[in-house]
This record gives sequence, structure tokens and C-alpha cells, in this order.
Amino acid sequence: MDKIMEKDTANYKDYTLLSYHHIPGVHNIDVFERAGGYEMMKKWVGAEPETIKEEVKQSGLRGRGGAGFPTGVKWGFFTKDRAAKKYLLCNADESEPGTFKDRFLVEKNPHILIEGMIISAWALGTQKGYIYIRGEFYQQAVILEKALKEAYAKGYLGKNIMGKGFDFDLYVHRGAGAYICGEETGMISSLEGKKGQPKLKPPFPAIKGYRGLPTMVNNVESLAAVPWIMRFGAAEYKKFGTEKSAGTKLFSISGDVNKPGVIEVPLGTTLKEIIEVHCGGMRNGNKLKAVIPGGSSSPVLNADDSYAVKMDYEDVASKGSMLGSGAIVVIDETRNMGDILKYTLEFYHHESCGQCTPCREGTGWMESIFKRRESGKAQKSDIELLDKTAASMRGQTICALADAAAMPTQGMIKFFRPELETYVTTNVNSNKR
Ligand SMILES: Cc1cc2nc3c(=O)[nH]c(=O)nc-3n(C[C@H](O)[C@H](O)[C@H](O)COP(=O)(O)O)c2cc1C
Ligand code: SF4
Repeated sequence: MDKIMEKDTANYKDYTLLSYHHIPGVHNIDVFERAGGYEMMKKWVGAEPETIKEEVKQSGLRGRGGAGFPTGVKWGFFTKDRAAKKYLLCNADESEPGTFKDRFLVEKNPHILIEGMIISAWALGTQKGYIYIRGEFYQQAVILEKALKEAYAKGYLGKNIMGKGFDFDLYVHRGAGAYICGEETGMISSLEGKKGQPKLKPPFPAIKGYRGLPTMVNNVESLAAVPWIMRFGAAEYKKFGTEKSAGTKLFSISGDVNKPGVIEVPLGTTLKEIIEVHCGGMRNGNKLKAVIPGGSSSPVLNADDSYAVKMDYEDVASKGSMLGSGAIVVIDETRNMGDILKYTLEFYHHESCGQCTPCREGTGWMESIFKRRESGKAQKSDIELLDKTAASMRGQTICALADAAAMPTQGMIKFFRPELETYVTTNVNSNKR
């Protein structure tokens, strides 16, 4: 049995990402190393890169940034030419409303991400990496900078890492708080010093990314999972989760529960268990009304579906929504769905980069229905108009932001049409909590 496991309390043996979190001061490199940190980097840097890639592929790890695309398969699209200039880009933008798990991971244990990135960089043959972190996460950027300095001082980053002839430089790049810079091509534009506007795909960044060169973009949680997979192996990782949704997942839970926060549970854990056991139940004993299961761009689930769903990619999709980044927003009976949709649409209109007409105009039109409410001019039929506008935006744009605005809108209308019709036609001041 391995060091981490030996040192763990019984509770921590079930974690892959948070397995160090009970150790005080683990954000310091010496403490991290005493607990077994960087052992996998020492073991795997210099080993056969294809073995690492194959292990990650076999683990079934799926990208934790939202789309759930298998990480090992994506790595397989990357050039195998080790001499070619190419980049590893960690997506720590985390702008999706409701999501706060990457920030949590970076804050508590920056070295697990750095170790994961070094192993990944070796496997992929990248010489340079960036951690693109959301501008508002100043404290987390400072923590990461300090951790990078510690890793450089130990010779784990820079030239000729541990004398193994491998050069890898890693930098922190702070964004400026635009949601669209979380989208990988928008992020790359921003990193290049341009406006953070997405580009049409293909070509995908793995083929043509930062500065026109192959760039592997992975989410914080995806990269931080690599050391555990390389320590215990793909078969052990697959023991967590379901057949198609392997491993554990961080969920950020907010809203009307007693204990909001970040938890790590195997994929496939029921939402009921997450709410009732991990989050201490509904706040004030109120009744569950709905759940947004995967961040603001995922369609809402009604109470029945919420209590029936298992939190894995397939089961959430079977209920008409998506697991996304695992941002669970719990909504109780005291909330008005109109308020929630209004704030959501204001957000997407504000964050549209404006390149595509259906997104730029569509998000504006959808928001304007709620503005008409404020002047008492909205009508019941506006909800039908909202539904049609949302439908016309889907699949028509450069990036998925338009869909991210349209899908939750249509989801809300599907379950809560009468409530929304009443909301838009009710005097603004009579309907607040
Ligand atoms: C509008 C939009 C916002 C996104 N925001 C994020 C984000 O904040 N963090 C993230 O990791 N991925 C985000 N993504 C997904 C990324 O484009 C990309 O797929 C992901 O970082 C790849 O990493 P993964 O394969 O590890 O999931 C966003 C996508 C879209 C369309
Ligand atoms: S869909 Fe929206 S955010 Fe994405 S590129 Fe088009 S206008 Fe910009």
C-alpha cells in the first residue's frame, strides 16, 4: 500500500483529488513531499511517454472542464514529434456561475496540479506550459506563483529536470475576468495578447493553438488527477464511478442546502445523497424545487428528476441536462424561477463576445424580455418568444456560449412555463423574496 494511503485516515482513502487535503500546510512543497507528493513525477519523468498516455486513456478520465471528452483520447490527437514546439495549457479560468472547485483545489494543494502538469508535459513532449487563471482569483494566483518558485528551487521545473534531460517551464497567466476566456480558443487568443474571442474549430488547439502551434488544453481537475492515476493505475481509478463515467469528481455545491461547498465523490453518486448526506439536507427544512446540475449553462432539473438522477455524464444527460463542470445549484421552494432565469440571461448577454449575430443579438433579445417586465410591458406570450429565440440560437455560432445561454432558458421553460409567464407579467416589486 502506498504512502498516501498509509498516512490517510479511513475517510481519505476514498479520494483521488482531495487525498492530501487533511494534511495541514500541504500547499508547502516540503509538506506535500513528506506526504508522497512529487513521487510520481520522479518515477514517470524519463519513462516511456506512451505508457503514461495509455494509462490515462485506460483510466477513462474524462475532461473535467465541462464537455467530458476523454482526456487520453484527446492526448492521442497531439503530435508525437517530441522535438516540435508545443504547449500545455491548464484551464483555471473557472468562470461558469456556480463552479468553484478548481479554485478550491489550487488554493489547498497547488502542487498536485503542478505535479500533474509536469507528468503530462513529459508524456506529451511539451516544453512550455501556462496556467491561465481567472483574473479575480488573485489569492490563488499568488499561491500558484509561490508553489512554482518552490518547484523551480527543487529542480522540478526549468532546464534538465532532475538531470533527466527534460526542459519544462511553467508560468501563471492571469486573465481579466471574461467568461469567454474559459473557452479554449478564446483563452488562447487572450494568452496571445489579443481580444479573448473564440475561433472556429477545426482546427482544434491540439493541432493549431497558441501561436499557431499544437497546444493541449486541459482543465485543472483533469491534470490534477494524473498523479493518482499514475500511482495506483487505471484499473484502480476505474473502480470509482460507473462504466462510462470513471473516477471521482469534484462538485461545487451552492444554494439552499445546509452545508454548501466542494465535495469529492465517485461519479454516479445520487444527487439525493449529495444533498441529504454530504450537504446536510435542505436549508431550513424547505422543500426542493429544482436543481441546476452542471453550472449555469446546464438545463434545470425539476425536484423529481433531481432526486432520481445519478451524477454521471450519462444519467444527467438522460434527464435532458448535462453534468458540465459539476456545479450543483440547489433551489428551494421559496425561490422564483423568473429571478434565476433573469440573472442567468443578464450574465450571458454581458459575456457574449459579440462576434456571432445569433449570440450577440439573441442574448440581448432574451434579456430584453425581462427588461420589458420592469417597464410593465412584458406579456405572457413573451415566454413563447423566449423559447423560440433560444431555439434559433442553438448550433449556429462559433463557440458554445450561445448554446450555454439557450439551453438553460429552454430547460426553465420546459418545467416552469406558468411560473415564468406569471413572473414577466407581474409588477416588479410584488414578486421578490
Ligand atoms: C463558453 C465556454 C466557457 C468555458 N469555460 C471553461 C472554464 O472556465 N474552465 C474549463 O476548464 N473549461 C471551460 N470550457 C471548456 C474549454 O473550452 C475546454 O474544453 C476545456 O478547458 C478542456 O479541458 P478538459 O478536456 O480537461 O475538460 C468552456 C467552454 C465554453 C464554450
Ligand atoms: S457564440 Fe457568442 S461568445 Fe461565442 S464566439 Fe459567438 S458571439 Fe462570441
